[in-house]
Amino acid sequence: MTTVDMGPGVMAGPNARTPMSGGPGWHGMRLMRLAGHPDTVAAGVVSLRVFNTGALTHEVVVLPLSAGQSAGERPAGPSGRVDEAGSLGDVSRSCAAGAGDGTGITSGATGWTTVTLQPGRYELVTSTLAVSVALCAGVTAAPAAASPAVTGTAIPALQQQTRTNLAQAMRGEAFANVSYTLFAAQAQREGRPAVADLFRKAAAVELGEHFTQEAAPSGLVGGNEANLTDAISGEGYESTTMYPTFARQARAAGDTAAADLFTEIAKDEAAHQAAYKAALTALRSGKGAIPAPPAVTPVTVTAGQPKVTSAQTRANLDTAMHGEALAHAKYTLYAQRAQQSGNAALARLFTAVSDVELQEHFSGEAALAGSVGTTSHNLATAIAGETYESKTMYPTFAQQAKTAGDTAAATLFQHNATDEADHAQAFQTARKSLG
Ligand SMILES: [Fe+2]
Ligand SMILES: [Fe+2]
Ligand SMILES: [Fe+2]
Ligand SMILES: [Fe+2]
Repeated sequence: MTTVDMGPGVMAGPNARTPMSGGPGWHGMRLMRLAGHPDTVAAGVVSLRVFNTGALTHEVVVLPLSAGQSAGERPAGPSGRVDEAGSLGDVSRSCAAGAGDGTGITSGATGWTTVTLQPGRYELVTSTLAVSVALCAGVTAAPAAASPAVTGTAIPALQQQTRTNLAQAMRGEAFANVSYTLFAAQAQREGRPAVADLFRKAAAVELGEHFTQEAAPSGLVGGNEANLTDAISGEGYESTTMYPTFARQARAAGDTAAADLFTEIAKDEAAHQAAYKAALTALRSGKGAIPAPPAVTPVTVTAGQPKVTSAQTRANLDTAMHGEALAHAKYTLYAQRAQQSGNAALARLFTAVSDVELQEHFSGEAALAGSVGTTSHNLATAIAGETYESKTMYPTFAQQAKTAGDTAAATLFQHNATDEADHAQAFQTARKSLG
């Protein structure tokens, strides 16, 4: 069965074409944006899952499009509502398959329906129960055997290459963010507050601008339930697969300190998963409390050499540190979303776990990997990274996105290439100032 996810979390970026069709009563209001992902599915049984991160209660209906008709063009009736006759399915209840008579998907909730789609083009129409049609997105059901190119859909999905590049860029941004945070602390210890400040400001740009802007077209952030579901799966993988494997390999290689750390972190990840599961249950049932945020015991990472011997352990540390950096960045955005949705307790949980990922897990691993050196060395590391991003990575990604027709992503990559060049320049100047 194919699942199509719908909701702002899968919406394209700020400059993307949007399939909005604002009906009366919506002008001047903050619109929920709707998009389907993927926007082409094999004909057959398809589940539509809708995340409502808007403020109002919504329902979504599935209507076939006739030849030449595009999503968003369906005329509204005299009441301002679209005629829903011919609807194949209806997502109209929170946390349940819609039966057409629900009370809508409430703010922050998820609903779904399962429909059988013949080959053809379909429109997903959302409305509030009180107002009128707000916006629409198209889905094409391709014949199951051969999937022709999508035509006539409202939102062109990002090309696969662009998605892959966005994911790689986000890993780099998340890693730079946490690395610079540790480099800032080292500069402070060395009595270089201006350099510390430079690292802190760059760190803030990597997460608050670059990572965040790349997360939008990637569809990283969904509603609270979707974010928790993603977090539960990530923590599950780390606690039951990744860290136990790394611990075993480190033990076999004689890297005892790394083996102990990996074992300890696996336990923490299991606790994170349990807390997120409890939070999801509380959200879905409306009963029980969001768990209290975990306490954070920061690890100080001073300049030092690697404390592991085997190449396998070094590679595993690198993988683990990238995973921790990404978790830190993701949970930061999930906390913001929770806060925006009015769920302060969930925001506190995401923020505290995000702090653990950086200040305990990433930091503990960085200490073993010898990732922090003297400030002069750290500046050289940063310059190399920024130069690679500004001269090679982002220009390549921008060119590929442009060729693929993903113009908003191309613009974003190009913009970030310029920012990274500025970072490289500022770090160069700082390095010279050290004498
Ligand atoms: Fe960046
Ligand atoms: Fe975790
Ligand atoms: Fe972690
Ligand atoms: Fe940068």
